[in-house]
Amino acid sequence: MKRIAVLASGRGSNFQAVIDAIASGDIPAICVRLISDNPSAYALERARRAGIEATVVDAGRFSDRAAYEEALLAAMQDCNADLFVLAGYMRILGSGIVHAFSHRMINIHPALLPAFPGLHAQRKALEYGVKVSGCTVHLVDEGMDTGPIILQRCVPVLPDDDEDSLAERILAEEHTALPEAVRLFCQDRLVVEGRRVRVR
Ligand code: GRF
Repeated sequence: MKRIAVLASGRGSNFQAVIDAIASGDIPAICVRLISDNPSAYALERARRAGIEATVVDAGRFSDRAAYEEALLAAMQDCNADLFVLAGYMRILGSGIVHAFSHRMINIHPALLPAFPGLHAQRKALEYGVKVSGCTVHLVDEGMDTGPIILQRCVPVLPDDDEDSLAERILAEEHTALPEAVRLFCQDRLVVEGRRVRVR
């Protein structure tokens, strides 16, 4: 059994999808911790309901980014986790953390990377006029949504879509894509070869 920890800043529906996939036996892992930077994240309530220990590292309470990152690194080390899952964690991780857990952190992004990295990916896709979008699960490196891609899922962009309807269609795919990537990691089936991730 792998030990996984999840980082989430908000609603936590992707966190819930991982919790459910573990509970149903799809992912051979235990979720040992939720870490949030936001004391009012609904993800914390989900952790409480699932009996998962939660730690808040509230960015607002630190004097600068270095102090915050140091506290976050300590909280992450304390998890003794094999894998960290960024499920709607809305901050860039500094190089100290990225190097400490290299190839052991994955993120989900609501666009087909490398298109539309960063915030408001669904809005950017709509405004650009693309006909398909989707989601990407990738390893975390020092860039913003730039790490090696594990898997992607597509959805159509429909003529009447607004940001909310497109986000909802993408989110439904996220909820299967993220557990799938976590499962592959936990089964030791991901082989990273430079920028490319092979599934064996
Ligand atoms: C998702 O769209 C995810 O791709 C993005 O932030 C959103 C988080 O949603 N990184 P939730 O908190 O998992 O419900």
